[in-house]
Amino acid sequence: MPTIIDGKKTSETIKNEIAARVAEIKQEGGKVPHLAAVLVGDDGASQTYVNAKVKACEQIGFESTLVRLEDNISEEELLQVVEDINENPAIDGLIVQLPLPKHISVEKVTEKIKPEKDVDGFTPANVGRMALNWPTYVSATPNGIMELLKRYDIETSGKNCVVIGRSHIVGSPMSILMARNGNPGNATVTLTHSRTKNLPEIAKSADILIVALGKAGFVTADMVKEGAVVIDVGIHRIEDSSKKSGFRLVGDVNFEEVAEKASAITPVPGGVGPMTIASLLSNTLLAAEKKIY
Ligand code: GUN
Repeated sequence: MPTIIDGKKTSETIKNEIAARVAEIKQEGGKVPHLAAVLVGDDGASQTYVNAKVKACEQIGFESTLVRLEDNISEEELLQVVEDINENPAIDGLIVQLPLPKHISVEKVTEKIKPEKDVDGFTPANVGRMALNWPTYVSATPNGIMELLKRYDIETSGKNCVVIGRSHIVGSPMSILMARNGNPGNATVTLTHSRTKNLPEIAKSADILIVALGKAGFVTADMVKEGAVVIDVGIHRIEDSSKKSGFRLVGDVNFEEVAEKASAITPVPGGVGPMTIASLLSNTLLAAEKKIY
């Protein structure tokens, strides 16, 4: 059996570490970290994610502010909300939950966020710093994956790493982080996407396979090398009448078959997912303690 990379347990460990630091800050009479989350509209998944982020803040002793806005808010008004939070010295970190309604430019809103408070690591300034290997806020999912590789002592130096999917939020930054000089890092990286030829063959060359393309069960056993480390970023609801909820969650990887070949693998749920919130909290602590800027 492969090592099951337990993101749930690891995220709890990280949250406990952050909570211990918050307790110290309080004792020293310092300012408790404060995260502001902006949610536009009433998209169900976004509400769930934002509520989970706010709840996690409470759990570990951070302050949080949730700003809920109607989905017909104008771009100008939203930019003003971001500006007000940028200038509010009580708030250390700011996230604007994506996606935004179509009439609002995600580029304009992202660029408006002060890099010092951009704990999602989405601004051009922070993506650039990440690519340069400068201190920065690395966005939540890639940061969570790097943390899992580190805490499970997975050797990445000199290994072949194949990333499937080139999204701005996961695939592209993952490819940069794995190739960067560091530990984890120093891998030989191939970034694959919808136009890649011979994808199964390339995937099979991976010592470390990171899958973030958003297709349920896409990676099957024939695409995986014996002994590979497999990181599954996908999360999909599949109808399942045998479950009380009526559905089950699966990833981009066919877990049952791939687990037979992998040396280590992240499950869905309980793998990469829980790490994202832990990363956001870590970044907010870095912001509050002025460790990056
Ligand atoms: N939408 C999906 N993932 C994320 C995330 O990590 N941050 C924000 N702000 N929005 C998202």
